[in-house]
Amino acid sequence: GLPASVRIHEVGARDGLQNEKAVVPTEIKAEFIHRLAEAGLTTIEATSFVHPKWVPQLADAERLFPLLDDIEGVALPVLVPNERGLDRALALGADRIAVFASATESFAKANLNRTVDESLGMFAPVVARAKEQRVHVRGYLSMCFGDPWEGAVPVHQVVRVAKSLMDLGCDELSLGDTIGVATPAHVRSLLAALNEEGVPTSAIGVHFHDTYGQALANTLAALQHGVTTVDASAGGLGGCPYAKSATGNLATEDLVWMLQGLGIDTGVDLGRLTATSVWLAERLGRPSPSRTVRALSPD
Ligand code: HMG
Ligand code: MG
Repeated sequence: GLPASVRIHEVGARDGLQNEKAVVPTEIKAEFIHRLAEAGLTTIEATSFVHPKWVPQLADAERLFPLLDDIEGVALPVLVPNERGLDRALALGADRIAVFASATESFAKANLNRTVDESLGMFAPVVARAKEQRVHVRGYLSMCFGDPWEGAVPVHQVVRVAKSLMDLGCDELSLGDTIGVATPAHVRSLLAALNEEGVPTSAIGVHFHDTYGQALANTLAALQHGVTTVDASAGGLGGCPYAKSATGNLATEDLVWMLQGLGIDTGVDLGRLTATSVWLAERLGRPSPSRTVRALSPD
């Protein structure tokens, strides 16, 4: 069976904009996030409190986050890699954070300048302090299916890091197919292995990049397994600057089109969302890669 409703975790403002060559003005980011909220998205990842030299595109987090204060009833999680990032996020009143681990050593090194275990050690005090403050913690896990340097990633290797993230106290896990190589049977095997090791499906979200056009098929496989949290980015923006061959995320519009057809409730107004992606694409100077955005927008 399929779930009755799905929570979309919108990542366009973070995963999308972190990967743009040009730095998007803070005011445009703020307007983008307001428009996403008006389109009915209820979880909108806003930015990252990472090192500004590592991701200059999001170096304006301190200026952006207060511009979102008037948005009500919407969760606005932010990425935090370490205690310095947590301090910055807490100082602005963030009440949802995400730490981000890797299933592979190569990407842990490239993205966090740490081994996998060193990065878990870096997250431990972050998660502990966040929990003390009743801050909700998402644990991202990248390279769950394949890695650009290491190739296919064994399921047991992913399960080990996933369990470590849960043991640190993460409230939810997001399984990242950072470079978009997963296919549905692989998704089913990983979900089953996680369940077997005691990670419940209710704690699992999926985060598919669409490099090979498999994101929607993978999402359907996850829904059939009982997953109800799906990450997507408006207009299909996205990618990770530290993962070669990462392209955009599953487009939120493509996801909403499929979910509507399946009769699954999302609360998203597809017309308003598409208009937002078209508006942003004009500012970025190139068309959205989303098939649904292109199909629904006048030429
Ligand atoms: P490092 O160079 O090892 O940093 O980077 P460090 O811990 O040695 O600290 C060096 C200096 O940086 C210190 O300053 C710190 O204070 C400062 P100094 O004492 O020398 O003057 N510093 C900071 N400043 C501001 N904010 C901070 C911060 N941390 C340290 N938070 C670090 C380690 C983790 C900081 C760095 O590697 C980093 O920022 N990485 C972030 C990379 C990133 O954001 N990648 C994209 C997000 S992940 C993703 O996209 C995948 C995902 O979508 C899921 C998927 O698709 O798979 C989530
Ligand atoms: Mg991503």
